[in-house]
Amino acid sequence: MALGLYVIVAFNTIIEVIKQMKAGIDRISFYTSRYCLDLKDLAEARDVDWNKYSIGIGQEIMGIPPPDEDIVTMAASAAKPIIDEVGVEGIDLVLFATESSIDQSKSAGLFLHGLLGLQSRCRLVELKQACYSGTIALRMAALYVAASPQSKALVLTSDIARYDLGSPGEPTQGCGAVAMLITANPSLLTLDPEYGVHAKDVMDFWRPNYRGEALVDGKYSTRIYLNSLSESWKQYASETGRTLNDFTRCCYHIPFTNMASKAHDRLLKDAGIREGRKEIIESQVKESLSYNRITGNTYSASLYEGITCLLDNANDPLDGKRIGLFSYGSGSVGEFFSAVVTPGYRDSLYTTNHKTLLESRSMLSVQQYEDIFNLNTPTDGWDYKFGEYQTGSFRLAGMHAHKRIYEAVT
Ligand code: CAA
Repeated sequence: MALGLYVIVAFNTIIEVIKQMKAGIDRISFYTSRYCLDLKDLAEARDVDWNKYSIGIGQEIMGIPPPDEDIVTMAASAAKPIIDEVGVEGIDLVLFATESSIDQSKSAGLFLHGLLGLQSRCRLVELKQACYSGTIALRMAALYVAASPQSKALVLTSDIARYDLGSPGEPTQGCGAVAMLITANPSLLTLDPEYGVHAKDVMDFWRPNYRGEALVDGKYSTRIYLNSLSESWKQYASETGRTLNDFTRCCYHIPFTNMASKAHDRLLKDAGIREGRKEIIESQVKESLSYNRITGNTYSASLYEGITCLLDNANDPLDGKRIGLFSYGSGSVGEFFSAVVTPGYRDSLYTTNHKTLLESRSMLSVQQYEDIFNLNTPTDGWDYKFGEYQTGSFRLAGMHAHKRIYEAVT
């Protein structure tokens, strides 16, 4: 009995020591496809008032992945600048978060492991819980490097958001990936140990294995998102004693940019703020939205795309300031957590890469978008070659004997 007590005390002490360690995001890099669709054109084709997309939903352009781009090529392209800069040494954990999985068995991270030449002493696994899985990946990786500070972890979030053509979800599609290097004493963001979390078994958004496009109960999903936010926030606030005034900015999961604004509005309303909410949302949330507005939903990557956007674009320096973070994955799990920005963080960003990528994409016509949409990955992958489109540093060249064949783009 006494021995058992000692073990529990020792275990709790270790957890407390790990909690005191500074761990978090050392590098963050974003990638989206080289093709996109102007939602003005989609609005015209679907006979919808353009203001509904631009004002009502808050989206302008959506990223379209060409046939030779997938979650692996996007994640590898996102990770490449990090690997080019810091090398592969010390990376012994790779967590790949996605809901657009390409194989029922093999982790997408292993294809990327090969493409990036990661070291063989490395654990890899793929994680799924709709758009939330990147957050549990991040938190597990942070605990891992806190317990083992000589290790580094690579967290990948990569997704392609697809809804049926002509459905209400169509203008909220998109694609992209965010790669994060997680280390002790990180150069960008140190995670606070506290969090509030809320899980509930609901059918607001889901994708059965036999479908390429998600099914969604749209309006219900927005209500569930907001409820999940309120519940996780309440728990976080009571655990930490913090209020909204403790955050310089808040970043949210962004299925479409107005959802993030609605989310912050909900927290302000819950806090009893009656006036000036629009202006507060403008100053605390808007800087994190501009990438999503022109890429569309990136599911598991979208909160992290928002964080990248904020760090790249904040008008005033964020050094030493705390930001609030809300991750939501339909089905549903929501988590409110927070992080403190490392002084000098601007020296470790890839802002120029992101801006160049977003400014150099090719616009598709609605017909080209529909043609690509309808060109699903072949179900018989015995021998198949994909046409060469513009991609990032890697492409899916084809399939042979049911094996995906990736190649570096020279
Ligand atoms: N000018 C300006 N605004 C207009 C307008 C016009 N001409 N026409 C409509 N609007 C406004 C509406 O008033 C509405 O605003 P509010 O939400 O503030 O009331 C907004 O535009 C949208 O209009 P509707 O509600 O009529 O739109 P809809 O029925 O076509 O559906 C949607 C909108 C539910 C977001 C749909 O796009 C959808 O199902 N998207 C996918 C699901 C989704 O993203 N859910 C978010 C929560 S779940 C989640 O976060 C996980 C995830 O990543 C999917």
